[in-house]
Amino acid sequence: MKKMGLNEIREVYLKFFEEKEHLRLESFPLVPKDDKDLLLINAGMAPLKPYFTGLKTPPSKRVTTCQKCVRTGDIENVGKTSRHATFFEMLGNFSFGDYFKEEIIQWAWEFITKNLNIPKDKLYVTIYLDDDEAYDIWTSKTDVDPSRIFRLGKEDNFWEIGVGPCGPCSEIHYDRGEGKVSTVEEFIEASDNDRIVEFWNLVFTQFNKDEEGVYNRLSHPNIDTGMGLERIATIMQGTENIFEIDTIRSILDKVCEISNVEYGKDKNKGASVRIITDHVKSVTFLICDGVLPSNEGRGYVLRRLLRRAARHGRLIGVNRIFLSEVMDKVIENYGDAYPEIKEKRDYIKKVMEIEEERFNETIDGGEEILKSYIVELKEEKNKVLSGEKAFKLHDTYGFPLELTEEILSENGMEVDIEGFNREMDLQRKRAREARGESSYMGGEDSILNKVAQNVDTEFKGYDHLICEGRVIEIIKDEAFVESLKENEEGIIIVDNTPFYAEMGGQVGDTGTIYGNTGEVYIKDCKKNISGKIMHFASVSSGSITKGEVVKLKVDKERREGICRNHTATHMLHEALKEILGSHVNQSGSYVDNERLRFDFTHFSALTDEEITKIERLVNEKIMEASMIDTNIMNVDEAKSCGAIALFENKYKGDVRVVSVGTFSKELCGGTHVRNSGQIGLFKVISEAGVAAGIRRIEALTGTNALNYMEEKHLMIKEVSKVLKCTEKDIIEKINQNTLTLKEKDKEIQELKSKMVKGIENDIVKEAKEINGVRFVSYKLLDIDANNLRDIGDKVKNKLQEGVVVLGSVKDGKVNFVSMASKDAIEKGAHAGKIIKKVATIAGGGGGGRPDMAQAGGKLPEKIDEALNEVAKVLEKLLQ
Ligand code: ALA
Repeated sequence: MKKMGLNEIREVYLKFFEEKEHLRLESFPLVPKDDKDLLLINAGMAPLKPYFTGLKTPPSKRVTTCQKCVRTGDIENVGKTSRHATFFEMLGNFSFGDYFKEEIIQWAWEFITKNLNIPKDKLYVTIYLDDDEAYDIWTSKTDVDPSRIFRLGKEDNFWEIGVGPCGPCSEIHYDRGEGKVSTVEEFIEASDNDRIVEFWNLVFTQFNKDEEGVYNRLSHPNIDTGMGLERIATIMQGTENIFEIDTIRSILDKVCEISNVEYGKDKNKGASVRIITDHVKSVTFLICDGVLPSNEGRGYVLRRLLRRAARHGRLIGVNRIFLSEVMDKVIENYGDAYPEIKEKRDYIKKVMEIEEERFNETIDGGEEILKSYIVELKEEKNKVLSGEKAFKLHDTYGFPLELTEEILSENGMEVDIEGFNREMDLQRKRAREARGESSYMGGEDSILNKVAQNVDTEFKGYDHLICEGRVIEIIKDEAFVESLKENEEGIIIVDNTPFYAEMGGQVGDTGTIYGNTGEVYIKDCKKNISGKIMHFASVSSGSITKGEVVKLKVDKERREGICRNHTATHMLHEALKEILGSHVNQSGSYVDNERLRFDFTHFSALTDEEITKIERLVNEKIMEASMIDTNIMNVDEAKSCGAIALFENKYKGDVRVVSVGTFSKELCGGTHVRNSGQIGLFKVISEAGVAAGIRRIEALTGTNALNYMEEKHLMIKEVSKVLKCTEKDIIEKINQNTLTLKEKDKEIQELKSKMVKGIENDIVKEAKEINGVRFVSYKLLDIDANNLRDIGDKVKNKLQEGVVVLGSVKDGKVNFVSMASKDAIEKGAHAGKIIKKVATIAGGGGGGRPDMAQAGGKLPEKIDEALNEVAKVLEKLLQ
């Protein structure tokens, strides 16, 4: 057996299946497309699900991939063991209704015994209990020793996930031990001990499990295989430990170099090193595939991994930003197989650094707070931190729950997870309510996705806004129906349509469908998972029936607005790259007829000057009145002519390239103006940050931009009228007015202090006596806390011995000051205690020293009642 590097094994595998007429597809991004149930791609077959279920037609019936995968279910074990990892690669070959058991069993055996040269006496095969067909093929078509085949139950050798395609499987295992195991019991024991390891799963997807749990035989069974690349690499490299694999060890060594840790010496440090090694790998690929750190969903997975790695860096004594240095090593080892990480190196690095920096800031604060919680818990002899506190750490201080748990567990404590989840649910509910309804079309099993595969819905709307078509299906309330009547709502599917279905950030078209006996308003248009165009309809008059030929007409004015905004979005993208730099990449966009919104990577707020430059460049290009060309070309051609491609555009084959003169060139399926001049005018109306490293620009075009400018202009006119000056003098006039206001303010203040001058004499006259202590409680008008205190001092001096309590309402708030002389204090008076009672009545609180205290209140209407209380409180204190 030849020792093979991880990269070599990957290539040998993919080549092998290419030679067996498989189409090699690049790994799909880690972010699933059209799969609302899955957070991150976690198996080779995950991105191919629609091909298995028949919802989409595959580019070839035979496909092979090496798929990057992330699984975080076992994250707690990563580092602790040398087997667990969050990032892994799965080699796979797939048949969509093409070859089946006979071929795959023979190929699999050929590959491992000939290409990988694994000795046959190190291999075992397992099959599903009653899968005699597989047994016959294994024994008649390969030279595997039949005594090395074991039958296992559903747990091990039947592969399924929920409803959908599933089937028995055959697994291939490698024996690291000596001698042969001969009974199924021995086999299971050796597997449990990790002596025997499974490395390749051949799934014979021959059933479709329905909702009732019935296994229906598929007319065209499929093949889905998965081989863990790291697993096979450990076998080929004679190690039991994934961190000893060539590529991974190289990253691990880098972590040790940065942290000065001698690997293998200290158990805890070793775990930290492994955590950093694994997590930085995941993080590099996640950021590359468009995930950004956030507090929800994928963003949270990323944030958690990144922060966990950063914290373990600190644990082993790295006191600087360092993760991107580890990332460089990941790219060095994986960049040839996944060129996207090389291409996006600067971007990945920036996102990593910003998050790591932020984390370092929050961690200091969070750790302090958590420490104080731990002290409290110890004092209370409690071992469980409340869910509320853990949530506060997470939500307010950005301190991750897992870190809280980890640090608590280091102190023999834990979090009340149920309580934490309750808080989290409440917050999610609030967020949902704030966001409103989502526009999502429904789950994968919605009837919308059950439209037959052979139904064609052709989009004619690049060149036509009106066309004829035949109604193929009508859906109402999750069922196929024959017709829709007046006032009914439903979904209409037509073989030809000029309606653009929402995609690539461009909204769906609206318009009308005219039938033989009715008229239907189309309020939106979207695609289902297999790309069929769906018109969201509401019948305005008459009815519409399946089979009839109809005329479809898009709302022209609205569409033209959308086109202007979409073309302007491309031009904005290019202008941003030219003015800010090539690191700018689209991270999202939204285009309708009113405005455009463009999210892009950039790491600081744009200056006014930059925005002006960008607007100017776009408007210059509009004035150049360049033609918009669309060309269909091969993806490689598109790349070589410099077209901008986004994360999602990872498919092979033909793509549509939209060019605005020679200025912008971008892969795009949307609709555009014919000539840039039609945009008329481009105006940025806002610029803001939406996430770390992501900015958002909103802009208007055409009439909307014009209206906006006009509105602003009218406003300026109005302002100049109100200010009674010319437009060009507005600023000077405002400055003048501000100055005058300031002077007036000063004057008012002076007058006020004159007014209160000598007021202490009036106040002292009001003094009364309780149990031999003189006291005064007095309300003043419109005095702030500072002045109140000054007046209090003066009154106290005048009074010489006694208690003074003053109150005043200023700007809707109540202020109190309370003072007591030494003599009064000796007799029992206490300024702090007095003010506490008084302020409580006025809706406030507080307290203070025996000689002086200040407080506020929220209930101005209670001030008299509050001041009247002084006598009573004092009486009690002096008893
Ligand atoms: N889909 C199969 C697995 O993930 C191959 O094991």
